[in-house]
Amino acid sequence: MRPPTTAVLFVAGLTCALVPTLALAQTRTARPSVWDGVYTSEQAGRGKPAYDAACSACHGADLKGVRDNRPLVGDRFWQDWGEDSLGTMFSVVRRTMPRNAPASLTEQSYLDIVAFVLQQNGYPYGTGELTATAINDIWIMRKEGPGPVPNFSMVWVVACLEQEPDKAWVLARTSEPVKTRNPAPSEGADLDRVKATALGADTFGLLDLPSKPAAHAGQMVEAKGLLIRGPRNKLNLTSLQLLGSACSQ
Ligand code: HEC
Repeated sequence: MRPPTTAVLFVAGLTCALVPTLALAQTRTARPSVWDGVYTSEQAGRGKPAYDAACSACHGADLKGVRDNRPLVGDRFWQDWGEDSLGTMFSVVRRTMPRNAPASLTEQSYLDIVAFVLQQNGYPYGTGELTATAINDIWIMRKEGPGPVPNFSMVWVVACLEQEPDKAWVLARTSEPVKTRNPAPSEGADLDRVKATALGADTFGLLDLPSKPAAHAGQMVEAKGLLIRGPRNKLNLTSLQLLGSACSQ
C-alpha cells in the first residue's frame, strides 16, 4: 500500500548506500567555506604522517591515487566533494577508510588527515583547528563563491513531472540540484527539507524512467539521480517520489 502523501513511484535497482544524508545546504552563501582557513598548518603537519601510514599505500604519497584507487586531490576531489559539506567527506572517510581497516583511527587522526587533504588541495590554513563539530558547516566551493554542483554528481531536485508533446517525460520547473550520497527517496528531516524547496525554472530530461507515470502528470516530485549537464540537463534517475501535491501555477 502506498501512503497517500508520499508515494514512492519506483526505485531503480541501485543498492542503497547506507549513508545518512547529511544536512544539505539551504543557506550556502552564509556558511564558512574551505577558503576561510578552517584548519591550522600544525594540524595538517600532524595529518601528513597519519596519512602516510594509513592512506598513502592506496591513494599515493602525492594523493594522486595508486593503481585504480582514486586521487584525493585536483579535479577528482572537486568532482567527489565540490559543492557539498566537508562533513560529508569526513563521515565517509571515517566510516569506510582505510579500506583494509575501516574506522580504525581516532577521530582526531581523521580530522588531521582531512586537514592535510585540504592543504594538498591548496585551501589555505588559518588559526583554528578543524573540529568534528565545525566540519559539517564548512562548504567545499570555488574561491569565487558557491556555484552549481559538478557534472555527474548524485543530486536531488524538486520538480513538476510533465509530459511533452513528443510524449517524453520531463522534470519541469526543476529546483537547483543539490548533492546527495543517498540515491533512495528522502525520508524524515531530509524529506521535510525537500518539500520546503521552491520550484525553479529549468527543464530536465529523464533517463531510465522504467514506468510510465501517466497518472502523475502535473504532480510535484522529488527526483534523485546522476546529473548529466548538456544543452538540456538530464537526470539518470535512481528514485522518483511523489510529494503529494499538484504543481501550482
Ligand atoms: C587498502 C587500500 C586503501 C587504503 C589504505 C585507503 N583507501 Fe581510500 N579508497 C580505497 C578504495 C579501493 C576506494 C574506492 C575505490 C576508488 O578509489 O574509487 C577508496 C575510496 C576513498 C575515498 C572516496 C570514498 C567515496 O565513497 O567516495 C576517499 C575520500 C578515500 N578513499 C580516502 C582515504 C583516506 C583518507 C585514507 C586513509 C585514512 C584511505 N582512503 C585509505 C582504498 C584505500
